[in-house]
Amino acid sequence: MTPLLEVAGLSKRFGGLVAVKDLALTVGGGEVVGLIGPNGAGKTTAFGLISGSLVPDAGEIVFRGHSIKGLPPHRVCALGMARTFQIMRPFPRLTVVRNVMIGGLGRHPHPAAAEARSRAIVDELGLGAKADHLAGSLTLAERKRLELARALATEPVLLLLDEVMSGLGERETETLVREIRAINARGIAILLIEHVMRAVMSLAQRIVVLDGGERIAEGRPATVANDPRVIEAYLGDERLV
Ligand SMILES: Nc1ncnc2c1ncn2[C@@H]1O[C@H](COP(=O)(O)OP(=O)(O)O)[C@@H](O)[C@H]1O
Ligand SMILES: [Mg+2]
Repeated sequence: MTPLLEVAGLSKRFGGLVAVKDLALTVGGGEVVGLIGPNGAGKTTAFGLISGSLVPDAGEIVFRGHSIKGLPPHRVCALGMARTFQIMRPFPRLTVVRNVMIGGLGRHPHPAAAEARSRAIVDELGLGAKADHLAGSLTLAERKRLELARALATEPVLLLLDEVMSGLGERETETLVREIRAINARGIAILLIEHVMRAVMSLAQRIVVLDGGERIAEGRPATVANDPRVIEAYLGDERLV
């Protein structure tokens, strides 16, 4: 079966720095794939390339059978891919629901329909009580949820999550892991950049490890966590599973 997303030979340099080098990556329909690696490994750059906000220097990106290399983000999104940003940027002077509606209007051009759908997503993500508050008034954990809600409102088949758990407390992380699992249970595939190892180990069926822009390992969570190259590059000498 052809994967939902297939990336091959993907490369991007910024001046003299090769941020992503010859990256190959696949995500199957409904799969959860973790993307891990030390700071500066090229994870966020890879997301930018896949979602269309950065133009690759080389490589191919095929999503649902379409070559999407060079397509702008809104076209990639219309095909069913949504991403969250590590550096969140909601519209602070719009309400939570209005922020989510901006994502939803692409699927439901009628504002009333987009609003109804957005309220449902906001409720589902536990932000119901804040639906009509300004986004600028949210806590960090709530802003992370809003970022997720905005992406979900575009009704993706593939969701790219960039460190949605960083900075959260243990209970908040556990809740978010459950919510992400529920999103995946509805058939939405997820590519997950995450530093919170416990979360990525429990969510991902497969993990890809980047270091210095290159893929250094790939496999089942337990295998990857015990790979000596991964331990050296990233995990320290601490065994995680
Ligand atoms: N727009 C940019 N211009 C120049 N260098 C960049 C840019 N974006 C990222 N980089 C560099 O590319 C490398 C990979 O960054 P990034 O993809 O953000 O890594 P990660 O998300 O894995 O921490 C880093 O060395 C970073 O400084
Ligand atoms: Mg990053």
